[in-house]
Amino acid sequence: MKFFADTADIADIADLAETGLLDGVTTNPSLIAKSGRKFLDVIAEICAFVSGPVSAEVTATDAPAMLKEAHVLRRIARNVAIKVPLTWEGLKACKVLTEEGTMVNVTLCFTANQALLAAKAGATFISPFIGRLDDIGEDGMQLIRDIRRVYDNYPALKTEILAASIRNPDHVTQAARAGSDVATVPPAVLRELVRHPLTDKGLDAFLADWKKTGQSIL
Ligand code: E4P
Repeated sequence: MKFFADTADIADIADLAETGLLDGVTTNPSLIAKSGRKFLDVIAEICAFVSGPVSAEVTATDAPAMLKEAHVLRRIARNVAIKVPLTWEGLKACKVLTEEGTMVNVTLCFTANQALLAAKAGATFISPFIGRLDDIGEDGMQLIRDIRRVYDNYPALKTEILAASIRNPDHVTQAARAGSDVATVPPAVLRELVRHPLTDKGLDAFLADWKKTGQSIL
């Protein structure tokens, strides 16, 4: 499964990129607002660190205006993926951008039917929002399983499932089990993935025993 970082924080992205684990980045207007920085500058800086897809979201709501915004955003770097909302207008923009050879991430997906429409419009990625479904008492992970099943029935559909709105490490495990192609994960959750108390305890014991030997490798 590919890992994208769900953030517009450059320091976090630089740190995560050093691990070699980062396959891409997703941003949204809320994350850009949180950064307090200029949208286009942030996307350009992210693209300098990450060679994989970097999602930049349009803010227009009709297809012609979405396309105008998309054409500005994709000029920033060749790895910019245009994020469009899962609306009729978003689907129209998706179709045109895909035909133009631009990667498209269709966002705010909450049903398998929506995911089917996005795939038929040629989306590169579909972003089902797990956490937001959990928030309203539904089972977000079931949506990933449903989309996986639907897409697998139609091999001609090439859209990748990008599990979004991930809130904890278990979401990552379950998304991987459900066959999600990508998970976009907040940096804090990505860092939690490496942690286990027995790892820390085991390392402490190894280092204590090593000290007793009085040796040094260098
Ligand atoms: C993904 O592309 C979205 O930006 C993100 O995963 C939304 O997550 P949230 O529901 O935690 O805001």
